[in-house]
Parts: sequence; structure tokens; C-alpha cells
Amino acid sequence: MSEKIKIRDLSFVSLFSAEQVQTRVRELGAALTQQHGKNNPLFVSILSGAFVFAADLIRAFDGNCEVGFVKLASYSGTRSTGDVQTIMGLEKDLRGRHIIVVEDIVDTGRTLHFFLDHLRQQQPASLSTVAFLRKPDALEFPVLVEQVGFDIENRFVVGYGLDYDGWGRNLSGIFVLEP
Ligand code: XMP
Ligand code: MG
Repeated sequence: MSEKIKIRDLSFVSLFSAEQVQTRVRELGAALTQQHGKNNPLFVSILSGAFVFAADLIRAFDGNCEVGFVKLASYSGTRSTGDVQTIMGLEKDLRGRHIIVVEDIVDTGRTLHFFLDHLRQQQPASLSTVAFLRKPDALEFPVLVEQVGFDIENRFVVGYGLDYDGWGRNLSGIFVLEP
């Protein structure tokens, strides 16, 4: 039987266990090592949701790297609010660097579309994206994501950094909202 949890007023059921999450993160880390292990990449993690994934992913990456964080926002509660704002920026010089953007989840693609455009203007040597989750049926903005942990249905999820109005980020697995 799948595990059920309650966060505030909503009920969620287990979608991916902590073990499934960790196994997949190690695979993603190995793939990134193959691709960028010798490139001294700069991982750019999108706060807040991606902080847990990024923390595990960089330790599954075998090579020298730097890590930076940006704060963007387009979500309130369980719905996208439509506009993306940069709240806290990246101070590094990105020109000539191999940039790996780390995102928790790609929903409409708006956040990444906006952010990748912004990064491209700074002429990095390469720009790639790894997202732990992706909702293919929700995609509205064209974005190329090179590495994806899991493609999921278009339903609201929490855990592993993802939140319901701030709650649930500390869960080690992924949980999906009950219909
Ligand atoms: P877009 O629509 O820009 O959305 O691709 C990406 C951002 O929206 C948040 N998001 C979620 N957060 N459960 C969450 O806790 C979800 O199911 C979900 N879907 C999207 C997330 O912050 C992501 O960076
Ligand atoms: Mg969020």
C-alpha cells in the first residue's frame, strides 16, 4: 500500500520513495560526470525548490565544479501565478563557462524559458539543464531539458525540496496530491 501523508489541509500519496529518488540522482550525476566531468562546470541551482536536489546532485558529480544559486518565482499555492521575477541574482561571470542549470521541476516551462534566455545572453561555453521532475502535459514554453529524473503526470507534487506553500520540502520522497 502506498504511503499517505497530510500537509495542512491536503492529502498526498507516495509517488517515488526516498530510495527511488536517490538511485535516480546517482544516475543523473553519473551522466553529468560523463558529459562535464572535465569541464569545471558551474551548477546554477534555482531556489528554493531545487536546493535539496542540487545538494545531492553535486555530490553525485565526480569532477571539479562550482555552485551558485538564483531565486526566481512563479508559483503561489498549487498554481503558477504567471509571471517570473528574478529576486536574487548570480554574481559570477558566466562568459566561457559550462553552465548546468539545476531545477526541481519543469511545469509550464516558463521559469526555465525565461532564465535560460537570460543566461544565454552572457555567452557561456555551454548551457545545459537538469530537472528532477518534468510534467510533459503542462509544457507551454519551448525548453530543452537535457537530463530529466522522472516525467510525471500533470498533478501537484511535494517533497525533496518541493513545497505546498512552504511545507513538505523536508520529505525524502516525492508525494502527489490525492485527486
Ligand atoms: P514553470 O511553470 O515555470 O514552473 O515550469 C516551474 C516552477 O514551479 C514550481 N512548481 C511546483 N512546485 N509542486 C511544487 O511544489 C509542483 O507540482 C510544481 N509544479 C511547478 C516549481 O517551483 C518550479 O520551479
Ligand atoms: Mg516552489
